[in-house]
Amino acid sequence: MERNAGTFNLQSGRVLRRPVKLLGSDGLPARRARIWTREKLRYLQKYAQAFMTAMAPKRSQGKWEHLDYIDLLSGPGLSIVRETKEEFDGSPLIALKIKPAFDHLYFADLNAKNITALKSRVSAKDADRVTFSAGDCNIVVDEVLKQISSRTLGLAFIDPEGFEVDFETLTKLAKKRIDLLYLFASGIGVRRNLKNALSVANSRLDKWWGGKDWRDLPAARWAAGKFSEEPSEKVLQSFVSAFRKKVASAGFQFQDEEALPFTNTKNAQIYHLLFFSHDQAGLTIWNNIKKIAPGGQRTLL
Ligand SMILES: C[S@@+](CC[C@H](N)C(=O)[O-])C[C@H]1O[C@@H](n2cnc3c(N)ncnc32)[C@H](O)[C@@H]1O
Repeated sequence: MERNAGTFNLQSGRVLRRPVKLLGSDGLPARRARIWTREKLRYLQKYAQAFMTAMAPKRSQGKWEHLDYIDLLSGPGLSIVRETKEEFDGSPLIALKIKPAFDHLYFADLNAKNITALKSRVSAKDADRVTFSAGDCNIVVDEVLKQISSRTLGLAFIDPEGFEVDFETLTKLAKKRIDLLYLFASGIGVRRNLKNALSVANSRLDKWWGGKDWRDLPAARWAAGKFSEEPSEKVLQSFVSAFRKKVASAGFQFQDEEALPFTNTKNAQIYHLLFFSHDQAGLTIWNNIKKIAPGGQRTLL
């Protein structure tokens, strides 16, 4: 089941899926991916690379003691493209391979099997700069942030399938010197789930959104059947934009005001990649990366 077709368990916020065991060529569990999954990871790779290239000299000069990476929904470390069977690194292994290297990396996943597989995929030479946790990101975040000193600059990649991440978790990240790349589930499947959530007084979405005000937004009113036609891109965009502003007001001074949309092969919107930073330099780097499409072509942005 894919992001744009799934239904969500409104208690846990997770996509409901049939348990299909998918193994990589190394015999360990892998994630089933679609072609566009790779695109978002290319943006992560490019940002992490540029972040470390720009910040490693500042670490040498003593401005930062540590440069750390945080991935609270890390997956097992390997994805397989459904259409082509091609295998590629997931976000944690991408971050591990960045040079200059992060000082420490925090990987967590609710599914303990994913963490076991990921541990096996991390080489012995890298193991002592990684902390692994099997657990809910909304709990693990506190343990991780306890380790992040005021002289640490971090990069967090928060990559949920749906509504799993509480808004409060993002506000906790905002209190540290951490740049945040967050996958906002804005796809058709998610919008359909708004309808189910609207019928519940206390929905999982309230925690995800950080309040009940999402219910008043045009996208939710559309989901409730109050619009006869499909909402325009503008209506959907306003949903993403309202969330982005909430996250920014939790403590990030700089944000990408034009979140990157990702679409599937049928050109249906699946999700948006949101970027937040405490520093103008972070936003400048991100904007430069956005000007280059993942395949390496310059966009017309
Ligand atoms: C979209 S995948 C992450 C993919 C990963 N970034 C990659 O590049 O391969 C989302 C992951 O979040 C995990 N997950 C779901 N709910 C979670 C939660 N509450 N806390 C931590 N992990 C969770 C799932 O098991 C899944 O592996």
